[in-house]
Amino acid sequence: MNQLHEPVLLKETIEALQVQPGGRYIDCTVGGGGHSAAILEASSPGGQLLGLDADPQAILNAKPILKQYGKSVLLVNENFSQLEVVSTECGFRPVHGILFDLGMSSNQLSEHGRGFSFQHEAPLDMRFSPDQELTASQIINDFSENELAMLIWNLGEERRSRKIAKLIVKNRPLQTTLELAQVVSKAVNGERGKLHPATKTFQALRMAVNREIENLRSALGQAVNLLGFGGRLVVISFHSLEDRPVKEFLTREARGCICPPETPVCICDHTPTLRLISKGIIRPSAQEIATNPRSRSAKMRVAERIS
Ligand SMILES: C[S@@+](CC[C@H](N)C(=O)[O-])C[C@H]1O[C@@H](n2cnc3c(N)ncnc32)[C@H](O)[C@@H]1O
Repeated sequence: MNQLHEPVLLKETIEALQVQPGGRYIDCTVGGGGHSAAILEASSPGGQLLGLDADPQAILNAKPILKQYGKSVLLVNENFSQLEVVSTECGFRPVHGILFDLGMSSNQLSEHGRGFSFQHEAPLDMRFSPDQELTASQIINDFSENELAMLIWNLGEERRSRKIAKLIVKNRPLQTTLELAQVVSKAVNGERGKLHPATKTFQALRMAVNREIENLRSALGQAVNLLGFGGRLVVISFHSLEDRPVKEFLTREARGCICPPETPVCICDHTPTLRLISKGIIRPSAQEIATNPRSRSAKMRVAERIS
């Protein structure tokens, strides 16, 4: 297939990772292979890249794109929640840098049978990997109204979650993406802001199906263990629900004592493992947003392993 996915903050990623010839890097979200290719270019000669993606189709698509780098690249179809196991099994540790570019790719959105898009008819699936058990259909058709409302509120930040959940339950069973999108639009009376009325509900379902926040939290800790001294951790997120755990994790790891403020004497023995490189967040330039509108919500955070 054609790679539709345009990597965001590409130059900034290579700079943040401080990619150097002969370096070893892990791309935890290979997707269309854009960031992986740029890392391999910048680390040549002698660089190596281990690339993971939970989606077998993403790995299949990236293989021909990265083929020219031969033995410098190793692609593994695995969830980044297994990061440490995969790296250890591949003898790929310590490393100079690790990248997470979160969420889904434009390629996945355009693969109509996957159910990620509310603009194309497809079964309610939304799994990154067919090995996962939970599908969007099970959530939509089996969860209680209250569970649905909570999920759409928590993972979609959708203020109309109760109305949406109520109408979903009234119209069940729902089989396809377009049926769901119609019900959501009806629930909010076709109210249209800048976003399609189903955007947040679809985001919530995708995040729940793929346990995105849980997997991210688990992988961040593993990434720190894999970085050598001075190694860089770079995370690109696309909305506050993804960015919040990243910010919390980096802030915590950059601190010494993490005892609650009311504790009179430190009992945690916590030592900082990371130094924050970007004080705030790095955002795409106006020029990048103009050429790649998907980049407009991207936020990059960078930290360096210190102990
Ligand atoms: C935004 S895309 C990455 C795009 C890529 N950086 C590029 O340049 O084309 C995110 C990718 O991460 C993958 N992904 C999301 N969560 C994952 C997880 N927990 N483990 C492994 N891959 C994951 C998705 O399948 C998707 O292919």
